[in-house]
Amino acid sequence: MRIRFDDQVAIVTGSGGGLGKSYALELARRGARVVVNDLGGAPDGAGRSTRFADQTVKEISDSGGQAVASYDTVATLEGGEAIVKAALDSFGRVDIVINNAGILRDKTFPKLQAEELDAVLDVHLKGAFHVSQPAYRAMKEQGYGRFLFTASAAGLFGNFGQTNYGAAKMGLVGLSNVLAIEGSKHGIASNVIAPIANTRLTETILGGMAARLAPGFVTPLALYLVSRESTVTREIYSAGGGRYARVFIGLTKGWQSPEVPPIEEIAKNIDAIRHEDGYVVPESAVDELKQLGRTL
Ligand code: NAI
Repeated sequence: MRIRFDDQVAIVTGSGGGLGKSYALELARRGARVVVNDLGGAPDGAGRSTRFADQTVKEISDSGGQAVASYDTVATLEGGEAIVKAALDSFGRVDIVINNAGILRDKTFPKLQAEELDAVLDVHLKGAFHVSQPAYRAMKEQGYGRFLFTASAAGLFGNFGQTNYGAAKMGLVGLSNVLAIEGSKHGIASNVIAPIANTRLTETILGGMAARLAPGFVTPLALYLVSRESTVTREIYSAGGGRYARVFIGLTKGWQSPEVPPIEEIAKNIDAIRHEDGYVVPESAVDELKQLGRTL
């Protein structure tokens, strides 16, 4: 095993089952000391239990690895702080944060209640913020860190009945992009993974493909992205069933008007505006602005 995590400390939220558990087990197998965080509730976030996190910790310990359990919710500021404190108190540092905890409260848009929006934003988007901010401070001190945020095709590409979830997941892309830019001068990288895997969150929707979509297929790319060997940052990847691919946000060549055009000119040029030939992938907002400056 050439890529190892000896002397590194990893926090994996939601690692009592599914994808997070697979990440935690492999990190520990490759030498990391792991904070196994899981609230242990139902797929919709109701309830809590120590059973999930304890099981992952037991499996790591049984195979000679080092891990501690954390049962805090990521959904509060205090929870996030407690999770990072568990890493610092138990192992003295934090090198890796995989923001993976997640719940679902699917509803079509007109039926979505404010509470279902809040619950999903709190766990996915604010949850990642709550854990990442105290971890970032520690990483900045030590001049090294790796973040991985968990998005979803539901946000990147859209999915029926998941406005709350899609919004939260795309919010994470923005969070990661900015963190990557801010962190670059401190040795901190940040990326996003959009997994496709057979877990309790997806067991009713994957149909016949489920058997081919074991969570373990996602783990190698996730762990590469949080390893020292990876210098990749500010990127988004899709992984599932053995297919590993990059997702990116591109800007079409577009159409340039010398003056403020009437709406009719937009209508006339909409195909040119939309056309994908010659697109670019800006490296930052400033990069996009520079490119516009050159066109002007
Ligand atoms: P899962 O339900 O097995 O794992 C999620 C874990 O997060 C659970 O163990 C749960 O107890 C924990 N959790 C929930 N709320 C928490 C909280 N407030 N604090 C701490 N832990 C909490 O499901 P899965 O599929 O492994 O999900 C992992 C991540 O991957 C989620 O963010 C999910 O949205 C995302 N995802 C999964 C896809 C898939 O195909 N399985 C597709 C796209 C995204």
